[in-house]
Amino acid sequence: MKNQTPDNILTPSLKTEEESFDQALRPRSLDEFIGQEKLKDNLKVFLQAARKRSQPLDHCLFYSPPGLGKTTLANIMARELGANLRTASGPILERAGDLAAMLTDLNDGDVFFIDEIHRLNHLVEEALYPVMEDFTFFISTGKGPAASTLKLSVPRFTLIGATTRAGLLTGPLRDRFGIIGNLGFYEPGELEAIVRRSAGLLKIPAEPEGACEISRRCRGTPRIANRLLRRVRDFAEVKGEGKITGQLARYALDCLEVDAQGLDALDRRLLLAIIEKFGGGPVGVENLAIAVSEELDTLTDVTEPFLIQAGFIARTPRGRQATSKAYSHLGLKAPRQNLELL
Ligand SMILES: Nc1ncnc2c1ncn2[C@@H]1O[C@H](COP(=O)(O)OP(=O)(O)OP(=O)(O)O)[C@@H](O)[C@H]1O
Ligand SMILES: [Mg+2]
Repeated sequence: MKNQTPDNILTPSLKTEEESFDQALRPRSLDEFIGQEKLKDNLKVFLQAARKRSQPLDHCLFYSPPGLGKTTLANIMARELGANLRTASGPILERAGDLAAMLTDLNDGDVFFIDEIHRLNHLVEEALYPVMEDFTFFISTGKGPAASTLKLSVPRFTLIGATTRAGLLTGPLRDRFGIIGNLGFYEPGELEAIVRRSAGLLKIPAEPEGACEISRRCRGTPRIANRLLRRVRDFAEVKGEGKITGQLARYALDCLEVDAQGLDALDRRLLLAIIEKFGGGPVGVENLAIAVSEELDTLTDVTEPFLIQAGFIARTPRGRQATSKAYSHLGLKAPRQNLELL
């Protein structure tokens, strides 16, 4: 988990607990993976075609805001292919040598997963191009006039890249992926199914109304749905009868400062800052980050995508602007010029 924010419920101390739950709750097959139907249907075709031709699957890129299932999908793809999965991440592959070490460890048909692929440094990225194209790695040896380049064949593997920032990928890297999949925010019905599945796996008694309440307040994000489920369970055990009812879920989520639209304290702080400090916007995201004392990356990767998708913020060429939905959600009256941003 990344981009911690102090006053929402992503507290750092929960990281280990979070990771172990993530593991336990992660769907293991495409059929268990709820939602993203179009992407799943396409992936099933590509998987079947690759199996039929006995060829490695084409390289895949998955992009979405955090917590929507990219890592889960990478694991599922490897399992569906009956392949081993090797994992690295952009910032860990500091030098081309780090990439070479990973590649020499691969076998034919393996899946090599690079998380946060937008953070690869450019030397590693350039070394990756011929690897992706024809499984060839070039190693430079020596310096000056004695320098030479060795050509190394690497096994025919499938690269799966994941990123929360597709816009930061260079064109040449993006173009070398044969399959590009975007995961969108989930619908309430899908999230409810996810909450009910997780509650079943964790043996948490949850009534449909309780699961529904959580699914409506989790910012369209399975990871948040699972996290809220665990926190609501704490309330059910301490303040209730151990069961997640609709009433208990509403009480617990109010205590967690997650409002009826799923906005948390940081979301509301951000909307208020746009409205009160910048006259409703437009305001540049850098200024906003300073105004709410938050990392720029957290705002752009975690906070903003949902607020834009849910219609609370509009991204205009001159910056971010609060919509009339934001005003009314906060109980404020929208000025005239915001009426056009309904
Ligand atoms: N479609 C789904 N069905 C059921 N559970 C899901 C689904 N997608 C994600 N989850 C749950 O949400 C958790 C987070 O998903 P995952 O780690 O794959 O997200 P991610 O997109 O890789 O996030 P990040 O960008 O932060 O790396 C998983 O552990 C899993 O339990
Ligand atoms: Mg991930």
